[in-house]
Amino acid sequence: MSFKKELLFAPDAIAARVAELAETISKEYADREPVLIGVLKGAFPFTADLIRRVTIPVTVDFIRARSYAGSESSGAVEFLLEPTIDLSGRDVLILEDILDTGVTAQAIRARLRARNPRSLRICTLLDKPSRRTEDIHADYVGFEIRDVFVVGYGMDLDENFRGLPGIHILERDALD
Ligand code: IMP
Ligand code: MG
Repeated sequence: MSFKKELLFAPDAIAARVAELAETISKEYADREPVLIGVLKGAFPFTADLIRRVTIPVTVDFIRARSYAGSESSGAVEFLLEPTIDLSGRDVLILEDILDTGVTAQAIRARLRARNPRSLRICTLLDKPSRRTEDIHADYVGFEIRDVFVVGYGMDLDENFRGLPGIHILERDALD
């Protein structure tokens, strides 16, 4: 099977937007030393770039979840890795690669809320609001996109394409 890739966001456009997000976060979380929690695997490049752009002290941790929303009607989410930092009383910011149906982010938010953070917000690099099934929105959004499947900058199709420096729309080749 072959795919056609169309560039949606070039590396410099991503870097510029990440810098803007970092500036906003640095202002809004000044003196709070927030805990930034990257959602693995997709958000690891975003997390790495963002923490090098913020101008305030931050603590970094990760969470990894697997959603069965596609294969089961339950929309069950399994946690494969959880933050080891004590989150109680902390200002926690979840870093997502992409907010699609919202099932994963909803489950992560509920899971982290149970650990009594002082505040809990979501920052997503990409937002696909047209696909949302859950009552959830991101507090910080890098780019809003239409309903397309994207890869690169951490995002994959069956573990492929994560290492692409830009974000591309992936289309199955019409000839296949
Ligand atoms: P949700 O639970 O439906 O919001 O899906 C969130 C997760 O699905 C993301 O963290 C991604 O791992 C994956 N995902 C959703 N849309 C895309 C896409 O367009 N490209 C790659 N991964 C995606
Ligand atoms: Mg994925």
